Amino acid sequence: GNNVSVGLLGLGVVGSGVVKLIEDHQEKLTHQLGLDVDVKGILVRNLEKNRGIDVDPTFLTTNPEDVLHNPEIDIIVEVMGGVEEAREYILKAFAAKKHVVSANKDLVALHGPELQEAASRNNCDFYYEASVAGGIPILRGITDGLSSDHIRKIMGIVNGTTNYILTKMNNEGISYETALKQAQELGFAEADPTSDVEGLDAARKMAILCRLAFSMDVELNDVEVKGISNISLEDLNYGKQLGLTMKLIGYADFSNRKLDVNVKPTFLSDSHPLASVNNEYNAVYVYGEAVGETMFYGPGAGSLPTATAILSDVVTVIKNMQLGVTGNQYLEPHFTKKLKGSAE
Ligand code: NDP
Ligand code: HSE
Repeated sequence: GNNVSVGLLGLGVVGSGVVKLIEDHQEKLTHQLGLDVDVKGILVRNLEKNRGIDVDPTFLTTNPEDVLHNPEIDIIVEVMGGVEEAREYILKAFAAKKHVVSANKDLVALHGPELQEAASRNNCDFYYEASVAGGIPILRGITDGLSSDHIRKIMGIVNGTTNYILTKMNNEGISYETALKQAQELGFAEADPTSDVEGLDAARKMAILCRLAFSMDVELNDVEVKGISNISLEDLNYGKQLGLTMKLIGYADFSNRKLDVNVKPTFLSDSHPLASVNNEYNAVYVYGEAVGETMFYGPGAGSLPTATAILSDVVTVIKNMQLGVTGNQYLEPHFTKKLKGSAE
């Protein structure tokens, strides 16, 4: 028919944003695609929860098979989080010849290459723009916009929760605990915010970015990590007196065919462009040999910004379907991994 149906795994902060955006932007979707996009099945844990959005209650289910094997559904949007169940459901989706769009950096950082392989084997698309830096089209920026260049360096603020916390502590003197609580209430934090504050979420995003930017088989363990949980107001005030702002910075350098990648709290001069990236906003500086310096900036977390990244992936998948091709962000790695500091 003249529509494509999406199945959602999860209807939380991001999932409800996707439902809202499909409805609010239907006219634009129809104009671009020549068909309507709708939602035909939604996996949740709790059917009774009041979600404050308008969904047909008959679409809600606690049985993943209802969504994964619904013959009317062409595209599965995974916005449930977690690793093992999400991995199992996505593999089932590919086996059922359904395309997948995911926001799950935990999963992509750990199992991205395996999932991509399963997608290709089944002639399915696998896109995950929302997994890195929320609403900023950074994966497209790297794999599409800068595809012709040699990327050499990436430096970025890629976690919204920790940037929100550091901003509130630095600019308003609010305590770490209060700022974290606010970030959770605003829907920026992970279900277990340990991964945010200990730098692991940023490390996952850096692993994904490095894979795509440097075409290399980068794993989570390759990223050296330090978080912000022991940063105090005193530390930030001390920096302030010296004209410095602290940010949780992801850094990756690929030169002489060796990669150096880490995440750690870093004092930046107040005049550094990344020093003025505030609240849940993210920014990624990308240096390419030919293009020089580029900078991508925007909301790194939150319901609607993240939903735009998801829905744009859905648009890409539908365009691929219309062209009769399959697409993905991940290509076979070109370089064998060599880490800086490791033995030759
Ligand atoms: P939420 O916790 O708000 O929502 C998760 C949803 O998934 C809920 O609807 C929950 O059901 C459902 N769910 C979780 N586990 C299961 C399960 N085992 N079986 C059935 N349903 C399940 O998370 P978010 O929306 O914030 O995040 C979703 C994903 O998006 C995560 O991977 C996250 O890392 C990623 N992400 C989040 C961003 C953000 O700003 N929040 C930004 C970018 C990516 P129920 O409602 O019934 O509890
Ligand atoms: N918890 C993540 C963050 C969500 O704060 O950046 C976006 O990936």
